[in-house]
Amino acid sequence: MPSTLISAVGHYVPENVVTNNDLVQKMDTTDEWIVQRTGIKERRFFTEGKDTVSLMGANAARMAIERAGINVSDIEMIVFATLSPDYNFPGSGVLLQRELDLPGIPCIDVRAQCSGFIYGLSIADQYIKTGAYKTILLVGAEIQSNVMEISDRGRGMAVIFGDGAGAAVLQATNEEGRGVLSTHLHADGAYAEKLMTEHPGSRRKERITPAMIEDGSMLPYMDGPFVFKNAVVRFPEVINEALTHNNLTKEDIDLLIPHQANLRISQAVQERFGLSDDKVFNNIQKYGNTTAASIPLALSEAWEQGRVKQGNLVCLAAFGAGFTWASALVRW
Ligand code: UT7
Repeated sequence: MPSTLISAVGHYVPENVVTNNDLVQKMDTTDEWIVQRTGIKERRFFTEGKDTVSLMGANAARMAIERAGINVSDIEMIVFATLSPDYNFPGSGVLLQRELDLPGIPCIDVRAQCSGFIYGLSIADQYIKTGAYKTILLVGAEIQSNVMEISDRGRGMAVIFGDGAGAAVLQATNEEGRGVLSTHLHADGAYAEKLMTEHPGSRRKERITPAMIEDGSMLPYMDGPFVFKNAVVRFPEVINEALTHNNLTKEDIDLLIPHQANLRISQAVQERFGLSDDKVFNNIQKYGNTTAASIPLALSEAWEQGRVKQGNLVCLAAFGAGFTWASALVRW
């Protein structure tokens, strides 16, 4: 049975850098508060008319495709993870397909928020292992800056989230022991409302009303401390599940790439596993929390910095809205 090799990764971030001090001008917050609570120093905000989720995904994809040394036409399927699609429908997968000029190939859109990239990896892995496809493009991309309110009212969310994109070329390999060793996916809808954007949704006759705009209920909502407490439990749990499944131990991990939710969450997970700094990669300081884009964006930068080498055991882990959480172990 073939396994799934991550042949190459790529990323794209909008050019507009927004520092903590830029936010301080617009809301009641401080650089110290943001750095201390989240580790974030700056993030990117998209440029209207230039960046869209599908175009940012395409930029990241082109980088991954070039690094993989394949032709765009080799791609047989697209899996697109995002919570911020260009349109309510159709999903951004078909827009990326159109942009890459790949008519006819299937496009799957994944709605698993921060766990979207690992959920997408798991989906692609099944198609590759069964021999259905040999080359799949997996993308995670988000534009979140325009759904947050850059104001006192919106500060709880606005300081954390950013825009960006990452992509991976996944290819079938028969090389023994290489590729995706496992994926483990979980969800618990009991907490769906702990991190959500309620409006506009299909539950009400009127999807958008002036009142929703006025009272801020169109903005994303997060019970931050509750999400935080669950994240620091689920991350270690799902990483341990992956290690046990593969008869591996924490000492075998060469690089852990946690979803970049909050630097304090990553550090808590690092501490829990006793991993040294060279075994954990974080770039939330520069980009904030980019939801489904965060893992491929981190993976791509880690690879550029020579932190991911052939033969390394790479552990990916995520937790986010849904709640959803997931892990993947990859022999690079
Ligand atoms: O992507 C996956 C899903 N997301 C996450 O995993 C995020 C998980 N949660 C978190 O990262 C943290 O809960 C936050 C960073 C969102 C918040 O940090 P916290 O340490 O949990 O702070 P808090 O929400 O308990 O708020 C502490 C105080 C409050 O004031 P009082 O009630 O103590 O007077 C807030 O009003 O900080 C206040 N506050 C702020 N102050 C300055 C909230 N946001 C801000 C802000 N600047 N931006």
